[in-house]
Amino acid sequence: MKKRDLITLGIGAAVLVVLWLAPEETTPVLPTDDTHAPFQKVFQEQGKKAAEAFCKGCHGKPGMEFPPGHPDPNRCLFCHKPKI
Ligand code: HEC
Ligand code: HEC
Repeated sequence: MKKRDLITLGIGAAVLVVLWLAPEETTPVLPTDDTHAPFQKVFQEQGKKAAEAFCKGCHGKPGMEFPPGHPDPNRCLFCHKPKI
């Protein structure tokens, strides 16, 4: 085997180790359904804060309460990642 092949293998192994050690992502991401698609767009064009301004128009209202134990519901998109 050539030295370059070994380096390539080494880098590949290192990447796998990093992925393996990464904490499991359990927080639901910002959905990409019709309800949330406009906010994905606002996020892309104007950033997190602008998009977050809309969330509480629905979430946290009667009938759409946050689940018990939900963290302080501000800055939604830091935890609920927009999938771009
Ligand atoms: C027009 C009302 C409305 C607005 C505004 C809204 N949502 Fe939602 N959201 C819903 C409804 C209804 C559901 C449940 C059904 C669904 O998944 O679409 C939901 C579900 C969710 C879920 C759960 C997805 C899952 O996998 O369980 C997350 C996370 C979420 N919204 C985040 C957000 C964030 C962050 C914002 C602000 C950028 C936002 N929503 C704005 C109506 C809204
Ligand atoms: C500090 C991180 C954090 C912030 C900030 C945050 N959330 Fe969450 N959210 C979570 C986690 C973790 C869960 C999963 C909790 C669980 O399953 O019990 C969750 C769950 C949800 C769900 C899914 C509830 C369900 O029944 O599936 C919705 C909807 C939601 N959050 C909306 C929001 C909205 C809207 C905001 C902003 C107003 C927000 N969250 C801010 C961490 C966060």
